[in-house]
Amino acid sequence: MKTLVLDANQIDVAAEILQNGGVVGIPTETVYGLAADALNGAAVAKIFEAKGRPMDNPLIVHIADFADIKRFGLAKEIPASAEKLAKAFWPGPLTMIMKRTDVVPREVSAGLDTVAIRFPSHPVAQAIIKAANTPLAAPSANLSGSPSPTTARHVLNDMDGRIDAVLDGGASEVGVESTVITLATETPRVLRPGGVTVEELREVLGEVEVDDAVLHRLAEGAVAASPGMKYKHYAPKANVLLLKGSDDAFIDYINAHAADDVCALCCDEDLLLLRTKTVSLGRRGDYLTHARHLFDCLRRMDENPTVHTVYSRLPSTEGVGLAVYNRLIRAAGFEVIDLASL
Ligand code: TXA
Ligand code: MG
Repeated sequence: MKTLVLDANQIDVAAEILQNGGVVGIPTETVYGLAADALNGAAVAKIFEAKGRPMDNPLIVHIADFADIKRFGLAKEIPASAEKLAKAFWPGPLTMIMKRTDVVPREVSAGLDTVAIRFPSHPVAQAIIKAANTPLAAPSANLSGSPSPTTARHVLNDMDGRIDAVLDGGASEVGVESTVITLATETPRVLRPGGVTVEELREVLGEVEVDDAVLHRLAEGAVAASPGMKYKHYAPKANVLLLKGSDDAFIDYINAHAADDVCALCCDEDLLLLRTKTVSLGRRGDYLTHARHLFDCLRRMDENPTVHTVYSRLPSTEGVGLAVYNRLIRAAGFEVIDLASL
């Protein structure tokens, strides 16, 4: 199959493909998604095939208005907490899980009795959902296991020949996937950290739990609240090692381990101090920028076949830092080197 590359003026072409049961890579403010008509099970099944995604991993349904939940009859009931969160954070990088109706095909919900719903803020994402006149199921548009795409070029690198089209809407602003919160539990619980922070959610809802799988490796045999958390994710080809300690200790450790196959995932202030290959996430402490650049940095390191070891700081768990932490700790297989204890 030939993958068409469309620009933002060709929304109508993309909409027609989607209405005919095709699969289109679409821009959102978080990462690019691989979209199909969420109400057409056969179309949704093509997403799993293109990605190589296990069928037991459910998809997020994208809408272009809070009222779409009711209009398309996606949820059994809309919890009061969903209305509060929508007022505060929609459109935007927040996905809410609620009890689903039978309108949601089993390919989308993967056997769960819930559905994940998001109203993205990206104007092109909103335009395509409206033009298709149906909710769009869309996971991140990467091959299963590789870093999420934040540009149309990333999508093509993974999906050329596997999907009908990709719609180019520029680089994604947020850079990491949406925050996923379930409202189907007694206390709302964050299953995946993202652009909307846990601190911000607590300001609106009061008590909010953070699922264990956000920070820790899932125990052997445990059932993941969010099936995606159990898979090895965001895995670059190189071995990623996270270093915990001061800035000076970070620089010293990497310089002591400098080699041709080593690359440092670092910050702008480190560039002149490190005697290795470097890729910078942005200025120290600027977590929003780190999030925006993270997946592009991981992909750039992957494109360099001589890089076998990547050293990075253990990210902060504050604010959007938690989203970066969650992605990198998985890329590192939960291995952290504590520089203070060496
Ligand atoms: O920012 C995003 O959320 C992007 C853009 C395209 O919207 N999408 C995205 O989708 O990251 P995906 O499929 O890569 O990640 C969705 C995560 C997975 O970990 C999945 O297991 C979880 O959300 N999920 C989806 N539906 C769920 C449900 N009903 N219950 C629990 N977890 C669910
Ligand atoms: Mg994904």
